[in-house]
Amino acid sequence: MTMIAKDGAALETKDPLWILNEYRAAEVHGAGAIMRMARLADSTELSADLSRHLRDEATHAWLWTRAIKEMGGEIVEVEQAYQTRLATYFGIPRSLTEFLAMTWASERRGVLQYTEHLGSPELTGLIQRTLRGILKDEHWHVRYINDELQRRVRADRSVQDIMDRALIADERAIGDMTAAETAAPESATWPPKKP
Ligand SMILES: [Fe+2]
Ligand SMILES: [Fe+2]
Repeated sequence: MTMIAKDGAALETKDPLWILNEYRAAEVHGAGAIMRMARLADSTELSADLSRHLRDEATHAWLWTRAIKEMGGEIVEVEQAYQTRLATYFGIPRSLTEFLAMTWASERRGVLQYTEHLGSPELTGLIQRTLRGILKDEHWHVRYINDELQRRVRADRSVQDIMDRALIADERAIGDMTAAETAAPESATWPPKKP
């Protein structure tokens, strides 16, 4: 999961309900991606990990949904700008390893985003508790996928190139979004425009 805001300044100027809707949409997207990838799992261990991961992402989507409702907010569909760009730069995954690498890059980005938000000064108790709870799971997501990819690197060193490619796609996606936000900061207004 990852979202649009990616620096402290953006977090402070955006409506919290907008950010939570981005988080919610990213978690829903993540659950869908894990569900598709789980069909390709080639070991019982990976199947079990992906099942637990799917449970987590669905739970996270619900936790953000509940937080938005508790804050009196509206659930809206928001653009998945990061995910779309990541997929464009990485290309359509053609193997389980490529799926894992793209997910790994996206999960790392999600941890960075949530960690940064947790460090921002004006957090409500509700958002802070939700971020803390979710981050524990997100750290595990990065760890188990990294372990799985390292096993694959030991068997086939070209897997490292796929991981590098995923990180480059992530950097390019974030670079685009930073440029877009600098060019048009008003795009971060509430409520979002319907696509
Ligand atoms: Fe998540
Ligand atoms: Fe995750």
